[in-house]
Parts: sequence; structure tokens; C-alpha cells
Amino acid sequence: MSTTIEADIEASMIAWRRDLHAHPELAFQEHRTADLVAKELTGMGISVVRGLGRTGVVGTLTTGAGPSIGLRADMDALPVLELNEAPHRSTHAGVMHACGHDGHTAMLLGAARHLSSKRDFSGTVHFIFQPAEENEGGGRAMVEDGLFEKFPCDAVFGMHNWPGLPAGRFAVNYGPMMAALDTFEVTVQGKGSHAAMPERGIDPFTAVGQIILGLQTIPSRMLSAMDSAIVSITQIHGGDAWNVIPDSVVIRGTVRCFDPLVQDRVEHALRQMVATLAKAHGATAAVSYTRRYPPTVNSRPEVERAIAAAKSVVGDEAVTVGIPPSMASEDFAFMLQQRPGAYIWLGADGHKACAPLHNPHYDFNDETLATGASYWISLVQTVLSRAAKPG
Ligand code: NI
Repeated sequence: MSTTIEADIEASMIAWRRDLHAHPELAFQEHRTADLVAKELTGMGISVVRGLGRTGVVGTLTTGAGPSIGLRADMDALPVLELNEAPHRSTHAGVMHACGHDGHTAMLLGAARHLSSKRDFSGTVHFIFQPAEENEGGGRAMVEDGLFEKFPCDAVFGMHNWPGLPAGRFAVNYGPMMAALDTFEVTVQGKGSHAAMPERGIDPFTAVGQIILGLQTIPSRMLSAMDSAIVSITQIHGGDAWNVIPDSVVIRGTVRCFDPLVQDRVEHALRQMVATLAKAHGATAAVSYTRRYPPTVNSRPEVERAIAAAKSVVGDEAVTVGIPPSMASEDFAFMLQQRPGAYIWLGADGHKACAPLHNPHYDFNDETLATGASYWISLVQTVLSRAAKPG
């Protein structure tokens, strides 16, 4: 393994990572984190703009003529009560870096320090420190604030540590890495009645029962077996009494898939099935369907560059190309909708398996900091190669 990170930078990354871990901040509240990032980047001689997507920070480093590249790290923590005993454990009760964004921030800072001192590339690097990856769509907020107009990027790259994949390995796909996240709410309107006299009303529960089962036939009967999608009902709300059939019942749930065409078909089928099954029972139904995060889909030329960069760090055998994508979601997808790019997984399991992401026992594996930062550096040298023709 040939990491390009100097020992003093690795020591700084460990210090930053543990400091951030001890001071986690929730979505759009990353003020201390953004202060730390801006101060460190400024100290490296990198120009800094703050406030994109509220608490976002972008550092820009240009050396010579050439293309421009965006490297993105997320900064936010989760509302989780940490159960670790490490000296760097969270000092903010109920808030925790349970997804490793502390490590992501530290690795991008480490790469920035190396690149700002060596300047062994030709072109422009934008270091994008993004808020609110968890649930709140900070990636979208930065894009809507003009990220790519203010900081033109020919391509944009992301990285996430990945428990289940051994440290010293990378995994990436041509195409989808993470699923789209949609949510839906269905209100079935019947007509309330005495439970002993259902014939005098319209029972919304029987309609909802049919709807719940019917929606499961969307993935199994209306999509090709080659198309992956999940429709999950996660909530039912209705009724207060043993002997009253309520007027209405609400169900909520989520849809996950990878292909925008599949997403269109699932939404269309869901709306049609809900309306038809409600009508069959004499009820009506209102559907509210929200597309929260698009799928995270890599583009081929950028995946090739990501593979080349990863192989130069960990060797050919340690880069998996073609891994089952995750049904979880990621708001880097909003950046990939705007620019070509690639999102890669960095192996997280050390001698002991890493706890799962979002688990109260999770802690970013510091052994992987040098590998991740070296990937960023190698990627910049690959995409902004001095030997390559500018543009
Ligand atoms: Ni995450």
C-alpha cells in the first residue's frame, strides 16, 4: 500500500478527527466544525468561501491551467446517544458522529494540506465541505446556492467509509451506488359508522388492507425482475375506539430504487393502485408522494479515474469494481445530478469489525485516514495530471 500522506499530516488528521468526534453538530448547525475547517484551510493558503448551504465551506486551490475538480466531504452528525467509552467520545449528549463524517472531514483537510504544500497538479481543486447530509439534504442546499456556478467543476467526487469492507480496500460501481429515497402518505377517506353496523358507512380499514397488499405487487408484478425496488409501509394511523369505524385512515411509507425510470413507474403505479382499490370499496384516497433524494449514480469516465486513483493507493487487487449497491441513500446524488462524478466506498473494518453506520457503538476507524486522504491526492494527480492536456 503506497499512501502519499506524510506522518505529520496523518497525526493532524487523527487530532482533527477526534476533536470533531468530541464536538458533533447536527444538520445545518455545523458552526464549530465549519470554523475549524475554514481556519485550517486558510492556514494552508487556500482561499475560503463560507455560507453556501448555510454552514458549508468551500476551499479553492489553483495551480497552473487545467480542468477543475470538486472533492466533497460531509460534516454533520446524527441524533444518536453515543455508547463508546473512548477519550474522544461525544461531549454533546444525544449527538454523535455515528456515520464517520468526522473522518470524512479530516481526510479532505489532510489531502488539502498535502496538495497546498506540494502543488503537484495543474488545474483547480475545490474542497467542498458540505453540511446536513443526514435527512436534510445539505448537498441540495449547496447546489441551490449556486455551488457549481460559483465554483465551476468539470467533475465532482465523493467518498464514504464503509463498515463490512476491510480497511485498505475500496469498492465502486459503474452506475448506481445508493438508492433514491421517496416517501409517501396515503389518506383513505371512508365514512365513519358504528362498528356493529358497517353497512351504514364505508370502512377505510378494509380498503387500506387491500392497498397495503396491493402495493407489494408493484415490485413483484409490475417491474422486471432485473429492476430493483422496495415499497415499505412503515406507519398506519386510524381509529380510537373498539366500536367505531373511523372516517379515515392514514398510511405512510418509503420507496427505494436506483433508476429514475423505475422511480416514475413505481410512483405512477402506486397512485393508480391506491385510487382504484379505494374506489373499489367506495372510499376515496389522497396521495402525497415526495422525492427526497435521487439515486447516487456514477458516470463511467469518472469511475475509471476513481479506480485508477484507488489502485495507485492500495494496489489492483484491493479495489472491487462491481459491488451490490446499497438501498440506503446519500445526498451527494444532488451533486451528481449536476456534474459527472464518482462516489466510492472506503473499507472501514480493522482487525476488529467496525460497528454499523448509525450504531451507538460506531467510531470512525483512524487507521483508514491515510488511505482515504491518499486517494484524494491520487485522484487530483490523475484528473489534473501535469501531463494531461488542459480542458
Ligand atoms: Ni454518512
